[in-house]
Amino acid sequence: MTVTIPQEEIEKQYRYMSEIKQINDVCFAKNNVRKRAIVRNFGCQMNEHDAESLSGMILQMGYELCDSSEGSDLIIFNTCCVRENAELKVYGLLGALKKMKKENPDMVIAVCGCMTEQPQVVEEIKKKFKNVELIFGTHNLHRFPELLCNCISNRKAVYETSHTEGEVAEGLPILRENNIKAWVTIMYGCNNFCSYCIVPYVRGRERSRDSAEIIKEIQELEKQGIKEVTLLGQNVNSYGKDKINPEDPESSKEMDFADLLTAICENTKIERIRFLTSHPKDLSDKLISVMAKYPAICKYLHLPVQSGSTKVLKEMNRRYTKEQYLNLIEKIRMQIPSIAITTDIIVGFPGETDEDFEETLNLVEQVRYESAYTFIYSKRQGTPAAEREDQVDENIVKEHFNKLIEIQNRISREINDTYLGKRVKVLVEGKSRTDIKKYTGRTQENKIVNFESDIDVTGRIVEVEISNVQTWSLDGNKYLTEEI
Ligand code: SAH
Ligand code: SF4
Ligand code: F3S
Repeated sequence: MTVTIPQEEIEKQYRYMSEIKQINDVCFAKNNVRKRAIVRNFGCQMNEHDAESLSGMILQMGYELCDSSEGSDLIIFNTCCVRENAELKVYGLLGALKKMKKENPDMVIAVCGCMTEQPQVVEEIKKKFKNVELIFGTHNLHRFPELLCNCISNRKAVYETSHTEGEVAEGLPILRENNIKAWVTIMYGCNNFCSYCIVPYVRGRERSRDSAEIIKEIQELEKQGIKEVTLLGQNVNSYGKDKINPEDPESSKEMDFADLLTAICENTKIERIRFLTSHPKDLSDKLISVMAKYPAICKYLHLPVQSGSTKVLKEMNRRYTKEQYLNLIEKIRMQIPSIAITTDIIVGFPGETDEDFEETLNLVEQVRYESAYTFIYSKRQGTPAAEREDQVDENIVKEHFNKLIEIQNRISREINDTYLGKRVKVLVEGKSRTDIKKYTGRTQENKIVNFESDIDVTGRIVEVEISNVQTWSLDGNKYLTEEI
């Protein structure tokens, strides 16, 4: 059962934040410079959202946030372990900081996030990186102020990754990266145990937030001028299932995901709603109807397929076949013809043959995704797939991977070509980073559109005519009308 962490515990953390703020304020009074802190991210949207919480706490503690480790007093590595590359990057950077720590012994280096939920990783960091003085996990992120306070006041290393399962923290400070769109976590953890994936081991079992808290948060965001929210969960389609009492399912009043979306549409005026990620096995007819019904729900769906081979899907423990997935796509497109669909695909899962890979290519050609996130299979210690002896030859995997990218790029480009001359509605996120004369934003289908405008249209939804097409984005010549 999911429980919300008692308010007294959160209040206690606020007291620790004040304690550190006092120390930092004294320093500021003496030196006239604020202590500086940086949070470095390595993972998914959930990881980025955790970083927003950490940044909120850091500001509350009287630090100034900066974007370079150079000269920082507090460096936080908010890590990811979904693939080996993400971990190697962190080890490399920690090594590079050894010299900096020697020059500035007062600097605190902290490591948190998914990597530190693996006991062997914690041991490795303790052994090889004595410069790391604070380690905590994804489950005790809310205790960061207390742990940092212990570390600073007692000048000793603090490692804490043990936790109580099934808890959800509410009411922590948060510093949002963007003032047009916001992440809103609706559930934590994953129960699916896909055989290649480490996430269920490091993020724990599914825990849904209370629907009332979610709606309250979105109403607050709306008041602050946020135009778009993305609801986050490893498998949003199982929202609410952990709240059902197995002894008496009928009496459980908690909403399912389709109900939650309905409640958000009915109780807020937020202009755009997105969600990530949907597991194909749990995507209900009810959800498709709700998506079709409400204009605020973006006609965009990220539906990871992972493989096009039914044999591989079974071994991945995905619990759908190629045919079931294709039928689901057809059903969604029947009800929402304008829907844009993207996916995740893994190449080189153990035992994947040329024929299995051909099945993936065939599926990609049939579905015609707007885009696909493609990954080379990475062995994760502790997952069933890592134990298999039939790991695929690296050269074959690379060859397959390149072929898949080539085909998907062609399809993405062909789909983008159909936008030429069309008018699209763009939620403008601000100035383009590459061309100061241009503004940038996204369509409902999540397409990036860059266009020129003489006036600042940030935060508005405007109509743009597409005049040029790239593989990853669209260019508009000017904005035409304003919707709002
Ligand atoms: N919960 C989401 C996303 C999980 S992680 C979902 O199920 O879709 C994001 C993506 O990383 C996954 O969809 C998968 O394609 C990829 N991934 C996960 N574990 C991996 C591994 N061991 N090797 C390579 N890619 C992996
Ligand atoms: Fe990993 Fe599968 Fe859970 Fe996604 S659904 S997080 S791929 S175990
Ligand atoms: Fe996300 Fe990486 Fe953790 S993908 S859930 S940060 S392992």
